[in-house]
Amino acid sequence: MSFSWRGLRVLITSGPTREFLDPVRFLSNSSSGKMGWALASAARRLGAKVTVISGPVSTISPKDVEVKWVTTALEMRRQVLKTAEKADLIISAAAVTDWRAKTVATEKIKKKNGEIEIALVPNPDIIGEVGEIKKKDGAKARKFPALIGFALETRDVESSALKKMWAKNLDMIVANSPASLSSENIRATLLLKNGVKRKLPLLPKRLCAQAILKEAESFL
Ligand code: C5P
Repeated sequence: MSFSWRGLRVLITSGPTREFLDPVRFLSNSSSGKMGWALASAARRLGAKVTVISGPVSTISPKDVEVKWVTTALEMRRQVLKTAEKADLIISAAAVTDWRAKTVATEKIKKKNGEIEIALVPNPDIIGEVGEIKKKDGAKARKFPALIGFALETRDVESSALKKMWAKNLDMIVANSPASLSSENIRATLLLKNGVKRKLPLLPKRLCAQAILKEAESFL
């Protein structure tokens, strides 16, 4: 019998986060959110109930998918932790901004000549935190969601991605390079906790999303 996604609850984080320095300026990255939408659309088509927690993007969300809009990493974390327990699968495709300002200036920072220093603090690792909860709760009978992460690497792509998969307690990690940021296409390698490795060719994100979900069926 073939695997059924019907009724499975899939939670996806997507897009960048914005970390404000003052009321008008922020730190972010160039994520378009296209991979998150492609995953949402593919999971929806298979019959899953899909929620996307998305940072600010200009791309259009797919039909029949619930979207919770957030701006900062802390807002994304709050939404994920609120929803995680109800999910069967969490896919972390968001490009969370690694740092935020230690204090956000309430007034616009005045422009002046010379260097300025802004203290940054690290943002929490959202999927890592969920992975930590999953590890602690491992002994309980309650079913905890399967976890898929992404790893964007410029060098030692596979070994760095594998390290992240283990550190964050993920079931699968999708290793890819910065060439896929904002692009229509992605060249990815799927690395699974059970040792399976699938090198995918350069594919439109829609087809890569389908391949990721197909592979996930082995641990759902
Ligand atoms: O940034 P990093 O390479 O560690 O990202 C790997 C995975 O962790 C991605 O799936 C990303 O969405 C997730 N992540 C997260 N919270 C962060 C940083 C990354 O959930 N603060």
